[in-house]
Amino acid sequence: MCGIVGYTGKSKAAPFIIEGLKRLEYRGYDSAGVAVIQGGAFEVAKKTGRVANLEKEAARHKLTGTTGIGHTRWATHGGVTDANAHPHVSSDGKIALIHNGVIENYNAIKTFLLGKGYTFKSETDTEVLCNLIAYHYEKEATVAGESRLLESVRKTLHHVEGTYGIVALCIDSPDELITARRGSPLIIGLGQGENIVASDVAAIVSRTQNVIYLNDREIARLTPGEFSISTLDETDIVPVIDKVDWSIDDADKGGHEHYMIKEIFEQPEALENAMRGRISEDGSTAQFGGLNISPGEFRGIERFMFCACGTALHACMVTEHLIETFARIPVECDHASEFRYRNTPLFRDTLFFVMSQSGETIDTLAALREAKRKGYKVLAVNNVVGSTIAREADGGIYQHVGPEVGVASTKAFTSQLLIGALLALYIGRMRDLSFGAGMRYVNALKGAPDLVRKVLNQAPQIKEIARRYAHYSDMLFLGRLSLYPIALEGALKLKEISYIHAEAYPAAEMKHGPIALISEKCPSVFLAPKGEIFNKIVSSMQEIKARKGPIIAVVTEGTELPAGLADDVIFIPECHDAVLPIVASIPMQLLSYYIAVERGCDVDKPRNLAKSVTVE
Ligand code: F6R
Repeated sequence: MCGIVGYTGKSKAAPFIIEGLKRLEYRGYDSAGVAVIQGGAFEVAKKTGRVANLEKEAARHKLTGTTGIGHTRWATHGGVTDANAHPHVSSDGKIALIHNGVIENYNAIKTFLLGKGYTFKSETDTEVLCNLIAYHYEKEATVAGESRLLESVRKTLHHVEGTYGIVALCIDSPDELITARRGSPLIIGLGQGENIVASDVAAIVSRTQNVIYLNDREIARLTPGEFSISTLDETDIVPVIDKVDWSIDDADKGGHEHYMIKEIFEQPEALENAMRGRISEDGSTAQFGGLNISPGEFRGIERFMFCACGTALHACMVTEHLIETFARIPVECDHASEFRYRNTPLFRDTLFFVMSQSGETIDTLAALREAKRKGYKVLAVNNVVGSTIAREADGGIYQHVGPEVGVASTKAFTSQLLIGALLALYIGRMRDLSFGAGMRYVNALKGAPDLVRKVLNQAPQIKEIARRYAHYSDMLFLGRLSLYPIALEGALKLKEISYIHAEAYPAAEMKHGPIALISEKCPSVFLAPKGEIFNKIVSSMQEIKARKGPIIAVVTEGTELPAGLADDVIFIPECHDAVLPIVASIPMQLLSYYIAVERGCDVDKPRNLAKSVTVE
C-alpha cells in the first residue's frame, strides 16, 4: 500500500528517493515525505497530496545528504496531515523512520514511552515505533558503534505486534540504513558504491537489477559499500541475489495518457507472454514448469479451492467455470479475507490455488498460510517474481505480463483468465477431454491475442458510447455463466475509477430484486454472446427495456437484436468458451476507462485505493 525507498551511496539521496516515490505512488498516495542526514541533523520534508507536492517542498529544504529515506503514505492510523506523513523523527532527534504496516500494540507502547518522557507530534503508530527504537538506542549505549542501531531496532521489533516493513536512520551513523520486515515487502537493490531498499522493484531498477528479497523476520544493515542480513533471532542469512528481468522502460507510460490505457492496449502481448512455453509439443494440452507437483499427484486431485481478492477473485470464478466445464472437477472459490476466518470444512485430495497480481496482498497471503497450516499444498498464480506469495507457495504459475502500474487491474486480469483456461485444459486432458477437443482448445487460446486486438480496434466507438453514459450515477452489469464474473469485473472497474455506483448480477437474477432499481436513470450493460442461453438473456433485456432502462449490449458479431431493444451495441468476435471471458473483458475495461476520463477522474490514482493491499 504505502511505498518505501531508502538510499545510501555517493550521490544526493533525495532526487533518487523522490523519483522512486513517483514510481511507487500507485501504491498509496495521500501524503509523501523524505528525510536525509546532513550537517549532523535530519532534514525532513513532507507534504499531503501527491509526490509532486513533496518535490516542491523538498526543493525549499535544499536536501544534499547522501543517505536518506522516503515514503508515500496510505493512511491507517491518523488522518491525512503533514504531521502524520512519514518519515517520523524520535523526540530526542536521534532516529528517523518510515514504516509500512500496522503496529497493533502501539497504544500500550505509547503509554510506556510517555512515561519515559518521549513526546509525539503525530497520531501514527509509526512515530511510536520510531521512539521505541530511540529508547532502545539510548539503552544500547555500550554496544560497539556499527551494531548499535541494528541491535536497537532488533530489540524494538521483539516488542512489536502487527506488521511492518521499516527503514531506520540514525543521526550518529550517517551512512547506515537498517531495514526489517514482517508482512510488508522489502527488496534490497545492490548498486555500485550504493545500496537501496524499497517496497517495490520499480523504485530500484533505474540503478540496479541485482536484488535480494528480504523475508519476514529478517533485518538488514546497508551502507554504501556493504550489506548484511540476519534474522531477528540473530542467525546470519546467506543472501540469494536475484536478477530482475524487466527494465525501467517497462514501467513507463510509453506515450499514453494513463498507465491503465497503456496496459489495456498491452494485453495482446501480455497474453502471448503468459502463454509462451505453456503449450505441449503435440499441441493438445498445457504444460507448466513450476507447479512442483507431478502429473500423477495432479490426477489424484478431487477438488480445487481458489482464494483471492477483488479482480483476482473474479479471475478465479471464471477458472472455476472452466475447470468444472472442461475437467468436470468441483471447484470452490472464496474471498481470501473470508476463508481464513470461515473455518471451511475441507476435503482431502483438495489442491489450493491463490491468485494475486502483486503477490503481496495480505488477505491472500493469510489464506495461503492458513491452507498450508492445515497441511494442504498451495500453488500460486502470480505476476511479481520473488513476491512473498510466490516464495511461500509450494509452486505456481507466473503471469509474465511485466509490471502493472495502473491501480485498476487490466492486463494482469486477462492473463489470469488465460492461465485459468490453461489449467482447465491441463486438468481436462488428464481426464475426459479428447485429443481433438484439446487441439481445438489450444488453437482457440493461440488466437486469443488477435481477437483481443480486434476488440481494441473498436476503442474509438466504445469511447463515443462511454461519453453518453458518463453522467449516470448508477449502473447494472449483467452476464451469465462464465460472463457473470466478467460482469462483476465490469462493475468493479467502473466503481473504482469513475466512482459510479455499479452492481453486477447473473442476468436472470435481476428480476429477483435489482429490477426495482431500473428506470431511465439506471443503464444496464448486458454481456449477451451467442450461445444456448442467448434468448434467455434477450428476455432479460426486454424486461429492462419495458421499464425504460437504457441498455448497452455486448453481443457476438453478426447478432441482430430486436429493433429498439439496445440503445448501444458493442460487437465481440465469436470465440471458444475458454477465450470468451478474455475477449468480453475488453469492452468492460474500455467503457470504464473512457467513462472515468470523461468524468475527469484520476484514472491511475483513484481515490482511497492502493495497488497492493498489504494491510488486513
Ligand atoms: C481492482 C484490483 C483489485 C485487486 C486486489 C487483489 O482493479 O486491482 O481488486 O485485484 O486488490 O490484488 P492482487 O491481485 O495484487 O492480490
